[in-house]
Amino acid sequence: MTVLKSVPMFGSFPEDQLRALARMVMRRSVPRGSVIMAEGDRVDSLYIVLSGRLKVMMGEADGKEVILSIIGPGEFFGEMGLIDDGPRSASVIAIEPCDLLSVTKRDFRKCMIESYDTAMTVMRVLVRRLRAADRKIGSLAMLDVYGRVARLLLDMSENVNGQRVVTKRLPKQDIAKMIGASREMVSLVMKDLEMSGYFEVRGSTIVLRDTIPPPH
Ligand code: CMP
Repeated sequence: MTVLKSVPMFGSFPEDQLRALARMVMRRSVPRGSVIMAEGDRVDSLYIVLSGRLKVMMGEADGKEVILSIIGPGEFFGEMGLIDDGPRSASVIAIEPCDLLSVTKRDFRKCMIESYDTAMTVMRVLVRRLRAADRKIGSLAMLDVYGRVARLLLDMSENVNGQRVVTKRLPKQDIAKMIGASREMVSLVMKDLEMSGYFEVRGSTIVLRDTIPPPH
């Protein structure tokens, strides 16, 4: 119950609905590397992340792949197939050990019908993802690798005491898969951006500076 209350999607549910929901959801812990769903699969459930992070990707895990997004605690995935009855649009793989809740298609639809707030939360997330996808299309079409890396770092950063900081570990290989560049190119560009003073690495975090390096 307490766990469900902390999930933004169900935060506005009254106590009795939360109790009913608690009987509907299944909790599951998965190790790093688990494939929760694969692109093209038939759809059964929606998943909510309680802890850990997962990557949403397209392509083969051992071949060329593109990372569409990284999702973490409080977020959900697998809603698209439940809404349009299509197959899974992407694969979702745990990049850390994760605690997940799953809700079946039938129960998800019931929640959408019974709660305007839940339906709005789902729509808001869909719109946010569409905005992020538009931004990514813009980056790919209009920015070089310097611009794409800089924009990704900015998008992944959070405000910590007035400074933009990337706190989550982000391997260069994953950055490359998120911006459509090679790992070698990302390494080169990041070294250059760091030397130009665009950011500073402090332990496992990246602190962004206000200054933008001159164009190359
Ligand atoms: P579904 O298509 O059912 O299964 C794959 C899930 O990945 C999808 O639902 C969404 O929840 C999620 N997903 C697909 N594309 C994106 C994206 N661009 N950003 C974030 N999540 C996504």
